[in-house]
Amino acid sequence: MKVSIIGTGYVGLTTGVCLAWLGHDVTCVDTDQSKVDSLDRGIPTIYEPFLEQFMAEAKERIRFTTSYAEAIPDAQVIFIAVGTPSGPGGNPDLQYLQAAAKAIGLHFEGDYAVVVNKSTVPIGSGNWVDALLRESYEEAHGSSAHGQFSVASNPEFLREGTALHDTLYADRVVVGSDDSRSLEVLYTLYRPILDQTFVPPTYLPRPEDLGAVPLVSTDLASAELIKYAANAFLALKISYINEIGQLAEKVGADITQVAKGIGLDARIGSRFLQAGLGWGGSCFGKDTAALVSTAAEYGLGMHIVEAARIVNLRQRERVIEKLLAELKILKGRTVALLGLAFKPNTDDLREAPAIEIARKLVERGCRVKVHDPVALERFRREYPNIGVVCCETPEQTAEGADAVVLVTEWPQYREMNWEAVAASMRNRLVLDGRNVLDRARLMRAGFHCLSMNGDIQASIENALASL
Ligand code: UDX
Repeated sequence: MKVSIIGTGYVGLTTGVCLAWLGHDVTCVDTDQSKVDSLDRGIPTIYEPFLEQFMAEAKERIRFTTSYAEAIPDAQVIFIAVGTPSGPGGNPDLQYLQAAAKAIGLHFEGDYAVVVNKSTVPIGSGNWVDALLRESYEEAHGSSAHGQFSVASNPEFLREGTALHDTLYADRVVVGSDDSRSLEVLYTLYRPILDQTFVPPTYLPRPEDLGAVPLVSTDLASAELIKYAANAFLALKISYINEIGQLAEKVGADITQVAKGIGLDARIGSRFLQAGLGWGGSCFGKDTAALVSTAAEYGLGMHIVEAARIVNLRQRERVIEKLLAELKILKGRTVALLGLAFKPNTDDLREAPAIEIARKLVERGCRVKVHDPVALERFRREYPNIGVVCCETPEQTAEGADAVVLVTEWPQYREMNWEAVAASMRNRLVLDGRNVLDRARLMRAGFHCLSMNGDIQASIENALASL
């Protein structure tokens, strides 16, 4: 099928590359010429494992352009995957969505296209896009847009860092429209994924237990709400375990074991119960804020979601409190932050806990040293005035520090030479913000270990004592 994608951020680029890889003819449009130039040369503009390889394998069927006139006229399916950043009061800023809808109406010349909202948009946006499309089509063509377009919502559930895997081996594909014609078109488009008819790449094997991928087809508003409800649920699952973690800390329980014990109940499930510094990234913060704000427009309070947001912010504050409790004075101390990206396998810094923690520590007079295996360059570019020292290796970061805080659980931090790090620090204090480090090993190296939730120091001390 002939597919156009507007916006080459995480969602747009991954969708475009995957659809081209699966055999569709894809044109991606972005207004940013430098992005288009880079993508044209086969160089991804985001850090995402295997994406470059995928782009190379699909290069005959994908092109990149800044020109709507090149991408839109004869497209059969047009995805809108532009940014919808948080605007004032939690409502997403829809200016890019509006511009995309207008441009489609202006440039479309074919008989029929399905226009698909892939961006996370407020409930009701599908109808708004429909009206914008028609208005702009009629203005440009002088004839009524009757039957030319149907609008669908096809929310995206991919996680950064595993975007290709999540797209090819989706848990489900959700498609919502008030026009049954568009559901048929999207069913055809996604058929290789739904029926898993493609030959999997060797580097991204199909999960053994994966059967056919379910297609959930709904009306427009339900699909729009599914996206928000799914993200908010995952976010509150994380905040729930973090709140239980605070209690675990008080009563001397180990939150990792608690999470395992509850997660094995199939009704609960073990994923998204990893306690720690809480969520960051472009979705959970923005989508929970939007859900609260949409509900408020209808006179509803989203109390559970609001509470999840409060717990999440609290986790970052607790890092400062914990360091203060141990070091007594923060002014003049050196604190090493390991990890800047909001999670491993991405260089994305949006709502990354590290940024806020760094700011708070600098405000309190600390000297802050930071490291990230992938996001350091982006950090230098995006936060030139934050007042921290960027280091090329984790070992350099920890040198002379009074405390190390593990902020992002990159696997290399677990494996690094902690014994050598201990020898180079002024004070051997580690705060494991993600509860992933081998504490027995750290303690043997002479570290005093703190975790975010649940003081598992005691249980480790007991275990060591019994050896
Ligand atoms: C999320 C959703 O998972 C995805 O479906 C949606 O389309 C976009 O938003 P993403 O933001 O890429 O994806 O990352 P995700 O893996 O969901 O992690 C989000 C945040 O939650 C990260 O900061 C991560 O560190 C944190 N997290 C995740 C936890 O703190 N504990 C967990 O158990 C899981």
